[in-house]
Amino acid sequence: MTISFEGRVAIVTGAGGGLGRAYALELARRGAKVVVNDLGAARDGTGQSDAALKVVEEIEQAGGTAMANGGSVTDEGQMVEMVAKAKEAWGAVHVLINNAGILRDKSFTKMTMDDWRLVVDVHLTGSATATKAVWDMMREQNYGRILMTASSTGLYGNFGQANYGAAKLGLAGFTKTLYLEGAKYNVKVNTIAPVAGTRMTEDIFPPEAFKAFAPENVVPAALFLVSEDAPTNQIVGAGAGFFHTAHVTMTKGKMLSAEDRTPEGVAAHWAEISDREGETVPKSGADQSMTILQSLQG
Ligand code: NAI
Repeated sequence: MTISFEGRVAIVTGAGGGLGRAYALELARRGAKVVVNDLGAARDGTGQSDAALKVVEEIEQAGGTAMANGGSVTDEGQMVEMVAKAKEAWGAVHVLINNAGILRDKSFTKMTMDDWRLVVDVHLTGSATATKAVWDMMREQNYGRILMTASSTGLYGNFGQANYGAAKLGLAGFTKTLYLEGAKYNVKVNTIAPVAGTRMTEDIFPPEAFKAFAPENVVPAALFLVSEDAPTNQIVGAGAGFFHTAHVTMTKGKMLSAEDRTPEGVAAHWAEISDREGETVPKSGADQSMTILQSLQG
């Protein structure tokens, strides 16, 4: 089965380089009309350049269709305008890949609240701002595919990235409610946790690993997750050709007797409470509450 984006309009934020560029090129190669958004900032979020224009040129040279957008995902007006321009030119927006990102790595001791705010603003609030700009259209046209970009830092943690990790797991949380609200309208929402050799990771990977982790190796997962037959509410890890899913699980847990409902009781039963044997993945918060209720009755 070939996955085609013929007739689809896609927006990729932060697509002036790295992973976003790779997504945009392949979406266009598979027939999508692509909005290449990027304000062209440096890795720490400062400055501006014409990075988006260059990717549009690459797409056009390869015979594809694209439009550059230099707006910032942190600017609501610019995101609304970007979506309006895409709609005016191409009639709709079917796919949104929230990919723009910056780094302000520091141990939490050294991190200022400005470092915190800026990173949360671009990744988490920026993704919400771009998503808000397409959301009503996707509901009305009964079709939408949205991809959030998390990170292994968000899912599992990494030293020196408290701001980034909080924003990234926030995006997985955003997905988990948005997928429920979009389900009725054929809007599917997923999260990708990529690992790729880009300017974001150039000082982390040794040269060999940098090559193995080429952004092109993440593209298959990203494009599958925004395709017609995409699943929804998935967290997918992708890097160097390795693909996996990640889950927020619930252990079988333990209903404690009235006399055990003390900190000491929790300590005494900790092994059973945290035993991962037979754990499940609730489909929603309400699902988790139902499980607790059933445990009360049973
Ligand atoms: P990158 O630095 O090459 O790409 C990020 C792009 O976002 C840049 O082109 C930058 O100009 C753009 N950008 C920054 N602020 C923006 C704003 N306010 N509005 C619009 N565009 C903005 O880095 P890379 O690696 O391609 O990152 C893409 C995404 O993947 C990011 O969200 C990053 O956090 C995430 N990620 C990357 C990993 C990796 O191993 N490279 C690991 C985990 C997550």
